Amino acid sequence: MTQMSISNKSLFISFEGIDGCGKSTQVKMLMNRFESDGIDSLLVREPGGTQISEEIREVLLKNRNENMAERTEALLMTASRAQLTHDVIIPSLDSGLIVIADRFKDSTLAYQGGGRGLDINYLLQLNDFATFELDPDITFFIDVTADEGHRRLNSKNPDRIEGAGKIFQEKVREQYLKLARIYPDRFIVLDGEKTAEEIHQIIRLEIKTIREK
Ligand code: TYD
Repeated sequence: MTQMSISNKSLFISFEGIDGCGKSTQVKMLMNRFESDGIDSLLVREPGGTQISEEIREVLLKNRNENMAERTEALLMTASRAQLTHDVIIPSLDSGLIVIADRFKDSTLAYQGGGRGLDINYLLQLNDFATFELDPDITFFIDVTADEGHRRLNSKNPDRIEGAGKIFQEKVREQYLKLARIYPDRFIVLDGEKTAEEIHQIIRLEIKTIREK
């Protein structure tokens, strides 16, 4: 396959993990790699990514909103996702771009499902409604323990969800591991204790494999 025909094929990649897993570093490394290889790609982050979604993000993450009901949280996360999917992700994939999502629907299943304990079946439906049933082609789950994630976050000012505590993050992680078993075709579990460069190399290899399929 030539470089040209490879780069015209759209691909939807998502990154997932608990807070402090090193996801942002990997997203950045991958974007830089695509850029130096001359491959058109677009990065989106959740919650957020459009003006409306960024406004929803503020409501979601403000520490002042500590009494937000769990269902409100789930609805706002998926509302932000609906706008982003409609305005940005679907049109970009349609035009042949590679889209990298720093979190997508699995975050809702892990955080609001595993972490907050909401019914997964409702969340699956909400997610499908919000995304026109779009799923990532490949999902990189960077796995660290809640202890490790907490340690790495220590220097930062935690937002409302990061501040939910270690036991919460442990439940989120457990749910991610369950999702990896439910969706083995698209989930790649990466050991977040490896070096950033080692993780990046595995990610590159997986993407190369899927693009050549
Ligand atoms: P952010 O600062 O973007 O964190 P990160 O860099 O870890 O992605 O904050 C997003 C927070 O929102 C993060 O704690 C995960 C949480 N979240 C949910 O609880 N549910 C969701 O559906 C999404 C997309 C994020």
